[in-house]
Amino acid sequence: MPNIPTDSCDATRITRGDRTLLSFGGCNYLGLAHHPRVIRAVQQAAEVYGLSSSASRETTGNARPHAQLEDELTRFCRHERGLLVPDGYTANLAALQGLEHLGIRHALIDTRAHASLKDAARLGGLRIQFFDHLDAGHGAHLIQDLDAPCVIMTDSVFTTDGDLAPAHQLLGILREQDWLLLDDCHGFAVLGEQGRGMPDAIGLRSDRLIVTTTLAKGLGCAGGIVMGASEPIESARSHSIAYRCTTPASPALVAGGLESLRILQQDTEIHQKLTRNIRQTRELLRTLEIEAHDHDSAIFAFVLGDIERMERIEAALEQRGVLLPLMDYPNGPAPKYFRLAINASHSSEQIAHFGQIFREVLAMISKKEPVSA
Ligand SMILES: Cc1ncc(COP(=O)(O)O)c(C=O)c1O
Repeated sequence: MPNIPTDSCDATRITRGDRTLLSFGGCNYLGLAHHPRVIRAVQQAAEVYGLSSSASRETTGNARPHAQLEDELTRFCRHERGLLVPDGYTANLAALQGLEHLGIRHALIDTRAHASLKDAARLGGLRIQFFDHLDAGHGAHLIQDLDAPCVIMTDSVFTTDGDLAPAHQLLGILREQDWLLLDDCHGFAVLGEQGRGMPDAIGLRSDRLIVTTTLAKGLGCAGGIVMGASEPIESARSHSIAYRCTTPASPALVAGGLESLRILQQDTEIHQKLTRNIRQTRELLRTLEIEAHDHDSAIFAFVLGDIERMERIEAALEQRGVLLPLMDYPNGPAPKYFRLAINASHSSEQIAHFGQIFREVLAMISKKEPVSA
């Protein structure tokens, strides 16, 4: 059964039928999906371009907002070249189809990487091996036996629990013709200077690095982008079927993304607020004796006993007006786990209110197993 549909929402509240809940789900990290300037930009662009550009960017479907966002986002993230594609899923596939043309035959993938990276490697016809989660040493062991160039693929910030990939170590094990592809869907807009992403946060720069991200999370619109040095990006542009034979995201939504990017650059407070909220949430979880990571990713994942106990906790929170999603999502830390996502629009009072309700619920629901991360 799919989830109950949402009838309306803003960045922190979600209404389903006659119930409005304080929400800690989704990935609208900067709250920009609901920013009035962004909504206005979408409305104005819809008047100018209609809702769909109705053709591939390589034929007649390349509207001005597509080209502008591609350029401005690439410059913001300090890459040489970028390619705007329909979504984050397609970004990984387009990147790999470009690399395949450059002679890549193998993929080494973190076992807990996002499913879109695994699909991209499969559809790209690469020979796939998995290295243990976050274990660059295991990757180094596997890479030495490969008979052709490879791409190492991983989330930069893991979707399910906010862990950070050992990106410097992974870059360090590449051979001359190999590449590192980082999916930064959960790092972009969250980490780095003004949200430039996880590679920026850790000072990772290389001609062998390709970064993909979605625009549906941090920028609150739709689309995806592949960024890196000219060679792999031009190869994706010239040879990727996923890019060449698909219609880009709606020009109106992309115009909204462009406005989001401009807000992010002009209003430094939004990104700082996100970081403060992440830190407040971390401290709150720790006071509840729930383990929480030390870095500034906006995702916290935890298991609270067995599934039956977690379902009771989820239901009790919901009865008290709080949505804390209990996830069943591929490659998570457990078959079911809580995934708390914080965003810049949560007020400090909302976070404190959640903490109070969560404490009451945890005290009420008997512990069958110890609380663990
Ligand atoms: C790590 C990661 N990569 C790729 C995607 C796909 O992005 P999109 O939803 O824009 O297709 C997602 C999530 O949706 C994701 O979490």
